Amino acid sequence: MKNLISMRDVSSEDILKLINLAVKIEKKEVNVDFTGKLAALLFFEPSTRTHFSFETAVKKLGGNTFSMSGTSSTSVKKGETLSDTLMTISMYADIIVMRHVIEGAARFAAETVDIPVINAGDGTNQHPTQAMLDLYSIQKTQGSLKNLTIGMVGDLRLGRTVHSLSQALSDFNPKFYFASPSHLQMPNYIKDDLDKKGIVYHEIEDIKEVMHELDIMYVTRIQKERFAVLEDYEKVKDSYIITKKLLEDVKDNFKVLHPLPRVNEITKDVDDTEYAYYFQQARNGVFMRQAIITSLLNLKY
Ligand code: NCD
Repeated sequence: MKNLISMRDVSSEDILKLINLAVKIEKKEVNVDFTGKLAALLFFEPSTRTHFSFETAVKKLGGNTFSMSGTSSTSVKKGETLSDTLMTISMYADIIVMRHVIEGAARFAAETVDIPVINAGDGTNQHPTQAMLDLYSIQKTQGSLKNLTIGMVGDLRLGRTVHSLSQALSDFNPKFYFASPSHLQMPNYIKDDLDKKGIVYHEIEDIKEVMHELDIMYVTRIQKERFAVLEDYEKVKDSYIITKKLLEDVKDNFKVLHPLPRVNEITKDVDDTEYAYYFQQARNGVFMRQAIITSLLNLKY
């Protein structure tokens, strides 16, 4: 792997290798040295966890970063093309991490520059490093990625994390429940991929009836900023609110995951239950991102 653009390009072997490396990095069983390495973190869209966990990941291992958050202080404002910006950045950095509002922007970046590119989210399309840290979190809490029953809840159309995660899990024989408002269902191209692999998925509106079956519930935010008409968002914004009460008869191994940020889709009383795992999930992101950079830059350990 030279770049990480889409989970569609990542084999189950690659996934397991990255998880194994993240485990070793977290347990400090290996010493990866990023000293002298420079990562460019280019965020054309807002970010908290992805941006700061990449920064943490690089800096904790002795490397350095430079960052862009929005375009207001860059030459993009003067009309510079994305390709010229990327070419210039590639003259300075060893690796580019990029989040962009346009689907396909990361693939374009990878085709433009010679250094490795990591997609940190491209519009509604993909968010592969999130999927990798989600898989790491699933492996840690369930002991395996195989044969799990996973409920994905919320905005499955515009939320990119569920696209990457469902594709990534499809090599591990999952059973999916997709719970969303009818206008925000999982896109057909994802469902077609699942159909081709013979994966069982059920599209439902009410998550309550399947709670007792789930190993993982992956909750997502309704993607307000991606709605063209605000009233359409207002109609669906409270479709799913996960409360402590909803978790009454879940399995012992059950965990709630969320890529964060949450708005109102998980109430605060869930945080104190043994099922809440979303903040540990964010922490896992640092080790997984260290593993990804190590692998793409071919660093010795
Ligand atoms: C997600 C994203 O940017 O797609 N956030 C993240 O990276 N953890 C989820 C979201 O914004 O809803």
